[in-house]
Formats: sequence, structure tokens, C-alpha cells
Amino acid sequence: MIIIKSEREINYMRDAGKIVALALDAVRKIVEPGITTGELDEVARKVIAECDAIPTFKGYHGYPANICTSVNSEVVHGIPGSRILKEGDIVSVDCGALYNGYNGDSAVTFPVGKVSPEAIALMDITRECLEKAIEQAVVGNRLGAISHAVQTHAEAAGYGVVRDYVGHGIGRKMHEDPPIPNVGEPDKGPKLKAGMVLAIEPMINIGTYEVKTLGDGWTVVTKDGKYSAHFEHTVAITENGPSILTKLDQ
Ligand code: MF3
Ligand code: CO
Repeated sequence: MIIIKSEREINYMRDAGKIVALALDAVRKIVEPGITTGELDEVARKVIAECDAIPTFKGYHGYPANICTSVNSEVVHGIPGSRILKEGDIVSVDCGALYNGYNGDSAVTFPVGKVSPEAIALMDITRECLEKAIEQAVVGNRLGAISHAVQTHAEAAGYGVVRDYVGHGIGRKMHEDPPIPNVGEPDKGPKLKAGMVLAIEPMINIGTYEVKTLGDGWTVVTKDGKYSAHFEHTVAITENGPSILTKLDQ
């Protein structure tokens, strides 16, 4: 069942989203060669705490940290810790916050120092996949239009689109209906309605779309060891078009 949010609820979600955006921006400012992923986690934790919000991920099915930090061939759910980021790495940072009973969820892949042209292209295309998906988040479209926008843009660049993990509805709970695959057909899936709030999150690999989970039970990596990128926004569908709730400037 897809839960429709009122305008008032969407504004609450905008507050939660803004906090996530602030946390990710604070992380962005300190990403550089030599820093550990654990230090990134600590900065995000502080921002969320200073905003009197709750880091949604911490304790979620036993997840041990405030954010996910997924480096290079890690796709999602990398656990922050003593790993030192080095020049040429890319790090996907995923962050969620609960505020006034509502969630925000967003992810960005950052370059660490100077990275390869291949890595930059991957990040650019993945960001564009998210932008194109958001353009499809309009009343009257079917959910498949969002999935299709991601798949066609990524595959045109020769990339693999992760199938095993998907976006999701979001609200009082971080994960609500509907699941939002990053592959699909535009005429399939439920019709999009005003008041739906979706966490859209393309996960795109340079090589194969196949992934596996490491022995820590969390970290998802590409099967071929090639780089992966991840961008995510929480987006409300309104009569006036898509409204990104996890933007910094709002
Ligand atoms: N942000 C992720 C998602 O979009 C969830 C992170 S999993 C957690 O679904 F365990 F870290 F919370
Ligand atoms: Co999400």
C-alpha cells in the first residue's frame, strides 16, 4: 500500500531532508585523501544530533553506524571505520535522518582528490540517471517511467544497472511501498499520484550489474571489482511536479 502524504506531512519531510542534506554537505567538505570513513561518520552524526534529529540507519536491522560509506567497488551499505581514503578513490555516502516523525534519505558519490576520467564519467552518468528519473516523477506517469529513465541512460553509456537493490517509498518509515527498481518499462507499475514520496536511488556499475555481499553481512560489492556509484534523493510528487526534499537550498 502506497501511503499518500498531505502537504503538511511533505513539509515535515522537507525538514528531515534538509538535515540529511546538511549532513552530506558537511561530509563533502572533509572528504580528502588521508581521512577515514569513520571520521565521515562522526561528522554526519554530529550534524544530525545538532539538528535534534535521529540517524535512521543506526540500529536499523542491527546496522552499526550513522551513514553508509561505500568505496570504489563497494556499491552500498559499506560500514564506516578505520579505512583511510586515498587519492583516486570514490566514496558513496548514504545518509538518513528522522525528524518530527518523518524520514529523509539521500546519497552522493564523492571523488577523493583527483580521480580517473573513468570514475568521473561513472559519477556524472549516475547523477544524470537520478536527474532523469526525478523528471519522470510526475502525476499520471507510471512508476516504470522512473525505472526506465535510469536504465536507458546508464545502459546507453555501457554501464550495469544494479538489480538486487532498489529505491523505495518513504515517510514515517524509511522503507515504504512501492519498491522502485532501476530497470523497467514506462507503461508498467502503479500510477504516480500527488502526495507520494519516493526515495529514488540509482546504483550504477562500470561493469557487470551483478553484486555480492561481503562476510560482514552488509557491504555490497560488484562481482567484477569495478567501480560503482550511487546517488539518491527523497522526492515528493506534487501537482506542480517533482519536489526534491533532500536539497541543501530549500
Ligand atoms: N539508505 C539505504 C536505503 O536507501 C538504507 C541504508 S541501510 C542501513 O535503503 F542499514 F544502513 F540503514
Ligand atoms: Co534509500
